[in-house]
Amino acid sequence: MRIPFIVGNWKMNKTADEALQFIDDVSEHLPDPKKIQSAIAAPALFLQSMAQKAQDTPLDIIGENCFYEQFGAYTGETSPTALKKIGVPYVILGHSERRLYFHESDEMINKKVFAAIDAGLKPIVCCDETMGREAAGDTIHWVVSQIIADLRGLSDDQVGQISVAYEPSWAIGTGKSASADQAEEGCYLIRQTIADVYSDELADKIRVLYGGSVSPDNIDELMAKPNIDGVLVGNASLDAEAFIKLANFQI
Ligand code: G3H
Repeated sequence: MRIPFIVGNWKMNKTADEALQFIDDVSEHLPDPKKIQSAIAAPALFLQSMAQKAQDTPLDIIGENCFYEQFGAYTGETSPTALKKIGVPYVILGHSERRLYFHESDEMINKKVFAAIDAGLKPIVCCDETMGREAAGDTIHWVVSQIIADLRGLSDDQVGQISVAYEPSWAIGTGKSASADQAEEGCYLIRQTIADVYSDELADKIRVLYGGSVSPDNIDELMAKPNIDGVLVGNASLDAEAFIKLANFQI
């Protein structure tokens, strides 16, 4: 059974004080993690204090990114091992903003996936879908080739550690979410690709999330779809009240 996974991605927002206040505001209103799992991906700067504060709450505090080496001369980067050691269980990799602004290639994301798993982190691997590709009707090829490249060389056991997020770039931060049917189609495509490359069993086990302008207004419809196991939420996750509503979605 795939436990629904509601993930807020704060991106480069909030200060340390605001981050800790958010945990106070939400922690008593989140569902039982055995039924619905909720997590916030926050800037590396205050992950440790958040992870400590959230320790006995249902909320997981997770990374927005990490590097593909564990340690070394890589100024400004975040070590997967160091993340794991402060109590971070998951890390987002290959977010479309990393691909766009920091020129992360599929090859680099693939290396990061290996490094994160080696460190004991569970990666949430994002695959995007750019405006141009969507307009050109090339969505299927784009999404499938990205997911194959990002997961290249992983063993069954390693693939079993990941979740995948389908995030059409045209829906990110635009207020224009994909329709529930479009989101379901993208998530289905990803699951099918994993079934083709690996096995039906693994495809059935992996959680596939949708991201792009998810809000308390559209989450119920999205989560009602059979191949959408969770959501990756940017803007709406910054507000404690909205995050509580997202985590307590109803279907
Ligand atoms: O990681 C989250 C996605 O980029 C979606 O962001 O909910 O602000 O559209 P958004």
